[in-house]
Amino acid sequence: MGCVSTSERLPEADPGRTARLREALRAANFTADGLLDLLGGPAYAALARSETVPALRATRGPSPLETLVRLFLLQQGVPRDRARDALPLDDALADGWLVPAPQTGGGTEGETEAGTEHGEARQPVRATVDVRPYSGPGGQDWWIVADLGCAVGGASGAGAGGPGGHGKDVVLGVGGASTTLAGITVRTPVARALDIGTGSGIQALHAAEHASHVTATDLNPRALAVARLTLALSGAADGVELREGALYEPVAGDEPYDLIVSNPPFVISPGARLTYRDGGMSGDDLCRTLVEQSAGLLAAGGHCQLLANWEHSQDEGWRDRLRSWVPPGCDAWIVQREVQDVTQYAELWLRDAGDHRGGEAEYAARYGEWLDEFERRGTTGIGFGWITLRKSGAEEPGIVIEEWPHPVEQPLGDEVVQHFERQDFLRATDDAALLDCHFRLAEGVVQEQVGMPGAEDPEHVVLRQQRGMRRATKVDTVGAGFAGVCDGSLPAWRILDAIAQLVGEDPVVLRDRTPEAIRLLVEQGFLLPVEGAA
Ligand SMILES: C[S@@+](CC[C@H](N)C(=O)[O-])C[C@H]1O[C@@H](n2cnc3c(N)ncnc32)[C@H](O)[C@@H]1O
Repeated sequence: MGCVSTSERLPEADPGRTARLREALRAANFTADGLLDLLGGPAYAALARSETVPALRATRGPSPLETLVRLFLLQQGVPRDRARDALPLDDALADGWLVPAPQTGGGTEGETEAGTEHGEARQPVRATVDVRPYSGPGGQDWWIVADLGCAVGGASGAGAGGPGGHGKDVVLGVGGASTTLAGITVRTPVARALDIGTGSGIQALHAAEHASHVTATDLNPRALAVARLTLALSGAADGVELREGALYEPVAGDEPYDLIVSNPPFVISPGARLTYRDGGMSGDDLCRTLVEQSAGLLAAGGHCQLLANWEHSQDEGWRDRLRSWVPPGCDAWIVQREVQDVTQYAELWLRDAGDHRGGEAEYAARYGEWLDEFERRGTTGIGFGWITLRKSGAEEPGIVIEEWPHPVEQPLGDEVVQHFERQDFLRATDDAALLDCHFRLAEGVVQEQVGMPGAEDPEHVVLRQQRGMRRATKVDTVGAGFAGVCDGSLPAWRILDAIAQLVGEDPVVLRDRTPEAIRLLVEQGFLLPVEGAA
């Protein structure tokens, strides 16, 4: 299943007719839960891998739900009478969600009686776009529109001019990156939110739930048209303004935003082949520009959250490069989730574009172009991760840059807010004040001990979070004892003095050397300051 030509005309979303279509989708149970129930786990998962055979087998019946899955997720032609059972057919044809399909192909049977009344009813129709049911954070039934074949599993190897033959401006549906960004986004209610590179409109749809006004931009006019369909079909068109243009251009001079999100075209590639992924700037300049220019559009206390790729090179550490991107007045939390060497990276995106399905020589040539580009730039690897900025206005911004490749709890937005709150606390609290503070152990932190069976003392003691970032950190006996006692009732110095007595250490020395370890435990969310208890 590859995305098909972007010469396909997109539907027009008449508000009344789109509302009726939405009701029909809902009535047929064409929802995320309904889809999972119908297909079952394995076929549902196969579809996400762009494998359609299991889903085709699971939708051979006549129910409206099966018809809608065939039309909007499997790109099958369906007889008109069957389509009419599933949705307001005349409306869908009038607005262009469906068009007549050729008699042959499409997996429908017995369509040879054109011209007769019965034959008319059997004439197939097909969808012009993919529509994927998507469950909102509060269980809302939403539908994400994308170019045909792009609803699930990304472009799945159908590159511009390649075997799928779709155009440069193809619009994808929901991918892993989309849900990652939606999951880490801070969901505090705000006045103004901005989604840059809205694509299918998924981030704007989420933002419309907690922002009074959302502006969504895209360089690709087709993406804006698709986003308009997603928003209309999901009943969220009113709160979102769509604007065309590159990066921050369409919002220059706007009032500041409380939240900026972007899942940008972050791929570091040798050329701008596909608008959804190749930003057209050299190296990681597009991500750098997004980060550097965010401060000018962020309101005080506002967050900017981006997914990004960044280059590793022999000349400069990646942490230093990223630190240099952070604009003045902003705190930053940057998490590198994965690093790939240049060959893995090239292969990933060659596959994404479908180049592996072309001829051997062409594939080798394209592969070579990627490696040439990396060689020229001195790129040794590429980091993938999340960048969150918060406009704190602090003279000495808190910048945390870390690697954490392990699974985290989703959604993570609350943890992002708390991360910056803990940064504020640490910035405002010197070591003497820290010892006067009361702390409590965060919910769900457990202790693990590793050592030889039968040994009296463990070799390692590890504190592990079961929530949020699900971090693990090694602590010494004092750290473990301290964390274990933190229930908010005693100031830190009292706990340390008691531990000093127990382990026979000088309490002054212990008070002197422990604040650094406490700071780390607070920064990472193992210990939480208890407000008003100092
Ligand atoms: C990876 S897609 C993200 C789509 C969607 N926001 C999501 O999360 O799934 C990146 C989007 O950025 C758009 N884009 C590409 N270059 C851009 C630019 N210079 N300025 C703004 N948007 C751009 C593409 O058209 C595409 O829709």
